[in-house]
Amino acid sequence: MMAQQAVRGTQDLLPHTYRQHLHMMEVIQRVADNYGYEPMATPFIEQRSVFVRTLGDGSDVVMKEMYHVVGGSASQEDEHRDMLALRPEGTAAVMRAFINHGQHLSLPVKWFYRGAMFRYERPQKGRWRQFHQAGVEALGSASPDMDVEVMACAWDVLRALDVGDVGVTLEVNTLGDDESKQRWRDALYAYFSRYEKELSPLSQQRLRRNPLRILDSKEKQDEKFKAEAPLVRAYLSPESQRFFHHVCEGLTHLGIPYRHHESLVRGLDYYRHTAFEIVTDHVGSHNALLAGGRYDGLAETLGGKKTPGIGWACGIERLALLSKTMYKKAPSVAVIASHEDYGREALALACFLRGHGVKVDYGFKPQLRKGLQRADKMSCCAACLLGEEEMKGRDVIVRNLRDGAQERVARDQLVTYLRATYPSSVWRGARTRTMS
Ligand code: HAM
Repeated sequence: MMAQQAVRGTQDLLPHTYRQHLHMMEVIQRVADNYGYEPMATPFIEQRSVFVRTLGDGSDVVMKEMYHVVGGSASQEDEHRDMLALRPEGTAAVMRAFINHGQHLSLPVKWFYRGAMFRYERPQKGRWRQFHQAGVEALGSASPDMDVEVMACAWDVLRALDVGDVGVTLEVNTLGDDESKQRWRDALYAYFSRYEKELSPLSQQRLRRNPLRILDSKEKQDEKFKAEAPLVRAYLSPESQRFFHHVCEGLTHLGIPYRHHESLVRGLDYYRHTAFEIVTDHVGSHNALLAGGRYDGLAETLGGKKTPGIGWACGIERLALLSKTMYKKAPSVAVIASHEDYGREALALACFLRGHGVKVDYGFKPQLRKGLQRADKMSCCAACLLGEEEMKGRDVIVRNLRDGAQERVARDQLVTYLRATYPSSVWRGARTRTMS
């Protein structure tokens, strides 16, 4: 029988990669924490309507990419049985959670989240059907300064992940307020309609669903029409213009480099005013590492009180292709028994050391040579050897695996000895365990 494989577009994250992803998420969370974002999590499944209403039923995510979830058997009566979806993104779900639990909180509420998202897209480099995002959402502030702070946080994340020298750019645009966006949308519809037959098939589809998205087209045949398309600036209300001007000035004031990208539109319907992406040329054709924007109006769409909001999310898999921040594995101490009769004692020693906060590898190889080979593979810094003599006395041989030097150490002195001799990285915070 052929071995079962992971589902197309998903991947197993084995320790080396997963450690790196976790490390990156921790780096991102630390930056978010500095900006005052509190961690929170929403479920992987939501009512489908949470996304349909907010991302827009004409968006690619809702039209083509949402995983529908059917729980239980067809005979079960549950009004929600077939109305659930695996979350394709976090913002709508975070807003739903805020409406359910957070409307009494002092505003702005600043939340950080991380976890798997699901989209039925065509898999390619940096694009998965199950991928991981880390993101922030700042809810309850309509100030353009909040947009600046949110982008400053995003920029700091990219710096902390050390992707700088591959060339990343913060691209910023405004979509204007509700009315401005609608005026621009109408103008784009009128303009692209004139060339409907000459547009790519995808852009023809987008024309009716969401003409803004034609500006995102990567098809060559759309190029010349995109170049002449009306720009949002002609449709912005004076208030929207002022808002965007304030945001741009704020970025300059903080010394954050950005490019005003006038045809940046974003694929999700909920955006108003500021939209931004941090892009690079280095991750396939889908080059956004991080993306976000303001979504005033989203709360009302979900049945909540008027609550402006802005945030971003970044894709861990995409960032992992570039990030140079590396997880550094803390070295461990190996415990090795030279004979299987001493195995139980060796295991007790390993547990004793772990109880004192030492990271220990016990390889279950009751043979000195094999034990040392494993310790080498596991990059241990030292090995505690238990042989016949050490079983009789209450001591162990500690071998320094970097230089081969050995010392006999009494077991009741072992923790103190290891603490004094090896780097603090082997210490994981002491829990105490007494040795029998
Ligand atoms: P998004 O642009 O759909 O926005 O996704 C944000 C980031 O998630 C992308 O820039 C990319 O790095 C990553 N990403 C998206 N799809 C995939 C995929 N199939 N495979 C790998 N990585 C992917 C949102 O999701 C919004 N919720 C962002 C936001 C937060 N806006 C306001 N607050």
